[in-house]
This record gives sequence, structure tokens and C-alpha cells, in this order.
Amino acid sequence: MKDKKLIGPITQLLSMDQLPMKGALKDSQLPIHKHAGILLDGDKIVEIGDFEILRKKIDLQEVRRIDLSENYVALPGMIDCHTHICFAGSRAKDFALRNSGKSYLEIAESGGGIWDTVTQTRKMTGSELAKITASRADQLLENGITTIEVKSGYGLSVLEEIKMLTSIHQANRKTKADLISTCLAAHLLPKDFEGDETAYLDWMVQKLLPIIYKEGLSKRVDIFIEKSAFSKEQALVYLKKAKEIGFQITVHADQFTSGGSEVAVKMQALSADHLEASSEEDLKRLANSDTIGVALPGASIGLGCPFTPARKLLDMGGSLAIASDWNPGSAPMGDLLTQASILATFEKLSTAEVFAGITFRAAAALGLTNKGTIAAGQFADFILFPTSDYQEILYHQGNIKPAQVWKSGLKVFDRKKKMKS
Ligand code: NIG
Ligand code: FE
Repeated sequence: MKDKKLIGPITQLLSMDQLPMKGALKDSQLPIHKHAGILLDGDKIVEIGDFEILRKKIDLQEVRRIDLSENYVALPGMIDCHTHICFAGSRAKDFALRNSGKSYLEIAESGGGIWDTVTQTRKMTGSELAKITASRADQLLENGITTIEVKSGYGLSVLEEIKMLTSIHQANRKTKADLISTCLAAHLLPKDFEGDETAYLDWMVQKLLPIIYKEGLSKRVDIFIEKSAFSKEQALVYLKKAKEIGFQITVHADQFTSGGSEVAVKMQALSADHLEASSEEDLKRLANSDTIGVALPGASIGLGCPFTPARKLLDMGGSLAIASDWNPGSAPMGDLLTQASILATFEKLSTAEVFAGITFRAAAALGLTNKGTIAAGQFADFILFPTSDYQEILYHQGNIKPAQVWKSGLKVFDRKKKMKS
């Protein structure tokens, strides 16, 4: 089979390249290539350009033509830079309790919440967990998400965290999406640990982090900084040690109370995620840093909480990515495009800002430079929406799903074929 392919013509191709990493974006800045073609070699993009010009240039002995006969808008494969899709069980009862007036933190304090999921996840075998994680990743892939960050954090002991991270790696082999694992052993002080938060984090630094780094189970460390979880001071000590080992840092920050984003900026974290409770000062500090702010509208919708002040952060000059936070507690929906569209209406975001937030800015939140745009040298991860106008996509709030999903140069999902089968 020929490794080189020319795909097109594509009615509008939004390459999302050469846009600034930080600050507000206007739709007039969007790089829109009309009647475009994508030339691939193996898993990488060689060139994009006018389809007719590329067609005349190629040698048909070497390049396979894949002609598209309908109108499509192409976007880079979406990147979900914050999920917890490796979990067992359901927290439907938390949903009912919240809607009867109990808060997320009250439910956590009375033994529900994250600890409930830890109990259920510990009961599952590693291979069952891998299977369920891969099936959620496949669901995201069909919606156009080609790279997915997946956190541990429902194990909360050395062995159970290793089980989770190993399952994420097994799931990565089962799904055609790319999974990137993050160690969230610092999600909560587990009820069965004999000692306080400081002792727990110290234990994890000594017994867990060196192993997972050496075994290649994760390169990223996350911590939940919150009244019900870990303090700023505890987090600083933990993250410094994680950084010394070599980990990249990300933080669950300012979800209910301010504080976490300050630690994230101090630690030069790749991202500070949540930010629903960030103060003006927090946002300013973040905007003046290279740490990417990640909005998680799925958690705001799930909990009935305010949205991340995305507009403010962008207007102050900050960088914004948008992720689903798919988890059984605060964000069980797991539909990134729907959530990002809803965030856009409440926060008054341009389409360019939303598309940037789920492509190249999300790639940067994961420290990736070879994904998130459709450009020469990048991985050939792109999606084709069945429309001739990019503005239809957010307008339909997630209801227009990609017709085709391409990952590393291969068509990994075709909605028409799915409908027939
Ligand atoms: O990002 N805030 C902490 N962690 C997750 C929720 C996890 C859960 O409730 O199971 C979040 O919202
Ligand atoms: Fe989260």
C-alpha cells in the first residue's frame, strides 16, 4: 500500500497554525484554506494547499488519491487535555443529592464523592479497567477527539495507582486514540491511609513517583488543591519534588476556592485547570505566565457552578484551553464539543478562541508540539465535519459530529459506515 495520500478537495480547511498561543482571537484571524488538499506521507502531513495545484503536482505512481465528493470542513483532531475516564461505577446518587441541595463538598465529607469512586475502582481488575477506559476513549474518538489525557487518582495507594496507570497504558493499545496518562495520586487523602496529608504526599514521593517515572507509566503529575484535598503549602513541597524527578506539572486549581493557580504559576506548570473561583489577581498572574488556563465547562454544567472566566483570562492576555473533565462525579457527560459550544455562549468566546482551545492550545497544555494544527511536519490527525461553513459547527452545539476521523494518516472512523453496520 502506498504511504503517500492526497485527500481532498476540502471545502474549508482550518489549519489552526501560525496563531498566537496567548490572548484573544478573532474569527477573521482563522487560517481558512478553501478547496484544499492534504498531502500525507505515513503518519505525517507533508503539505497542505490548493487541491488542484497539489493534484497536478503529484505522481500517481507514488501517491494514492482519496477524492471527497461532498462538502467538508476540516479541523485538526481535537485534543481533550483533562479527563478522568479511567474509573468504575456511577455516581448517579451524587447527582440526585446535589439537586436536592447538597454541595459537592458536603457529599464528599459525608463519604460520597471521589472516595466512592475509589472504592468501586479498586474492586475492578486492571484488565476490566483498561477495557472500560478504551471504550470511553473510542466514544471520544468518534466525536473527533484524537488525543486524550487520562488521569489516575481513583487508586490512592501505591499499588492501586500503578494499577490505574498500567490500565491506561493497556487502554492506549486497545483504542486508536492517543492516551496520555497523568498521575493524580494527590486527588484526596485516602480514608485508609494512616497519617495526614503531608505524610501521604511524602509517601507517594518516596514510593510511587520514582517507580512510575522509571517504568514510563507517566511523565505528568497533577494535584487537587482545595479545602477538601491538599493545601497550597503541601502542594508546593510535593510538586517541587515531582519536578526534581523530572515530571511535568499540572494542577486542579481554584475550583471552589482560590489558591491553586498561584501554585501552578509558581511551579511553571503546563496548565492550571478549573479556575471557576479564580480572583482577578489569580487571572492576572496566570495571564502573565506561560501556564495555560484550562476551562472545564462539563464540571460547571454537572455541578451547576459558574463557568471559568474564560473571556477575562483571554482579554488579559492569557492562554485558554477547553477540556471535558469527563469523570463520574462532577462531569459525567463527556462531550467536549457540546460543552465548548455552551462555554462560548456564556463566556462570549469567538469560534477561533474555542477551536484554539480544543486544538493547539490544548496540545500545549500537554506539552505537545507535533499535534493540534494541520501543517507540514505535524501528525496527520484531522477531522472532517459534514458542512461547508465552519460557523455551523459551534452553532449546532455539538450536534454536527465529524463524518470522518483521521489519526496518524489513517481513517479510523467513518460515520457513514457506522450507520450501515
Ligand atoms: O476535576 N475536582 C476534582 N476532581 C474532579 C472530580 C472527580 C470526581 O468527582 O470524581 C474534577 O472535577
Ligand atoms: Fe478533573
